[in-house]
Amino acid sequence: MGPGRGGCRGLLESLAEGREWLRRLLAVTAAMYPPDDVHGLGHVLRVTCLALKLVEGLEADVDVVVAAGLLHDIGRVSEDWSGIHHAVLSAIIAPWLLRSVGFPEEKISRVVEAILSHSFSLGFKPGSVEAAAISDADKLDAIGAVGIYRAAAEGFRRRRGIKGTIRHYYEKLARLRDMLILPAARRIAEERTRLLDEFFKELELEAGDEDVVVDWVLGMVRSAGAHIIAGAQRRSTSSTHGGC
Ligand SMILES: [Fe+2]
Ligand SMILES: [Fe+2]
Repeated sequence: MGPGRGGCRGLLESLAEGREWLRRLLAVTAAMYPPDDVHGLGHVLRVTCLALKLVEGLEADVDVVVAAGLLHDIGRVSEDWSGIHHAVLSAIIAPWLLRSVGFPEEKISRVVEAILSHSFSLGFKPGSVEAAAISDADKLDAIGAVGIYRAAAEGFRRRRGIKGTIRHYYEKLARLRDMLILPAARRIAEERTRLLDEFFKELELEAGDEDVVVDWVLGMVRSAGAHIIAGAQRRSTSSTHGGC
């Protein structure tokens, strides 16, 4: 059974045996992320377990993978108001948290590198298997069934509407598959992107020209409003000239 289908707990539980720092880090993670499964704790746990699955059979340091997975979005909560990219904020916070839970000091810089390179918009390319696993797992969580759920939730939160969410699919989600690095990630992406593409094609068909109709109706509302204001101004001018 793979992560996302009940295997994530078992994976983390077995890793936490003999790693006291991981038990502490899981507690810190749960306390610091918002309890939502779009960008918060649910997303971070899925990405961590998926990244661990992606490095199975590869020469990778699971300590770095699990720590980077858990902390890669820890700065997201401050991104909107600070205007600072959340990967940068996460990279600043991560070393402090890792030291506080007793994570091996010599591995901290590799965790920071993986955190910085997980987001393509910053321009850093993953330079290690561990960083590639985090970057790939993060992108896989944006496609497939979970990706559809997250796109809809985020579209609603940002008031993108159906058309704006479809635009987001073309501009970002449909391009993520080309950024995957590890062969295991590309294999998983095949099925996930098929689902994603089918969903958005169907959504586009069903939504029709909704945005054009809304613009047309709003145009009529605006001209009706302008008419009412002009009428009220005319009446107010004539009553003033009436000399009361
Ligand atoms: Fe992120
Ligand atoms: Fe993420």
